[in-house]
Amino acid sequence: METLDDYILGHIDPESEYLHRLYRATQLHLLYGRMASGHLQGRMLKMLVGMIHPKLVLEIGTYSGYSGLCIAEGLLEDGHLHTIEINDEQEDFTLPWFQSSPYADKITMHIGDAIDVIPQLGLSFDLAFIDGDKRRYVDYYELVLSYLNPGGYIIADNTLWDGHVLETDTHDQQTLGIQAFNDLVASDTRVEKVILPIRDGLTIIHKKN
Ligand SMILES: C[S@@+](CC[C@H](N)C(=O)[O-])C[C@H]1O[C@@H](n2cnc3c(N)ncnc32)[C@H](O)[C@@H]1O
Repeated sequence: METLDDYILGHIDPESEYLHRLYRATQLHLLYGRMASGHLQGRMLKMLVGMIHPKLVLEIGTYSGYSGLCIAEGLLEDGHLHTIEINDEQEDFTLPWFQSSPYADKITMHIGDAIDVIPQLGLSFDLAFIDGDKRRYVDYYELVLSYLNPGGYIIADNTLWDGHVLETDTHDQQTLGIQAFNDLVASDTRVEKVILPIRDGLTIIHKKN
């Protein structure tokens, strides 16, 4: 029987053939292929970028490049994405996918810890997609917010963490990291925020002017 997820995918824009191949290659050749955004979230990211019209976008956690390509797809002519990946072994897989795509000139991939790389870029951003180590979301958030233009947006992935956010006695560091992040954002008067329960939870955060 068709699931609701199948139904949704059958009634939204398809992913391009290129993205479909990247997703397949990610599952085939990389560990933890589930980390890639995939069809629904990819279309969502493209749509949000198209609504926000950011000039400069930051991504923490490039992985195989699926989300990066979807973000780039939504950018206007003068938009650019800076995406940061801590795992240098990822570069050999991901860079060719960026370079062979129609968005090669819209994406710059940086290798390093986002916490170190962001201050070195000397840029401020209109939109940031946080999708790195769940234990460090609070650190990413404070840093990213300081490099975000007034009126800018943050999209944070995995903020429902497969429902584990409801656990009250957990010692799992990733769950604790996401819970701390969600509590911080919820009480932060510098921003407006909403959690969308799509896939693993997407929090949209708007930095007030
Ligand atoms: C969930 S995956 C990213 C998936 C990708 N954004 C997508 O949606 O297709 C998380 C990635 O973040 C990287 N990462 C973890 N900590 C990081 C850090 N401090 N700075 C940059 N990248 C980091 C990991 O190596 C991993 O490749």
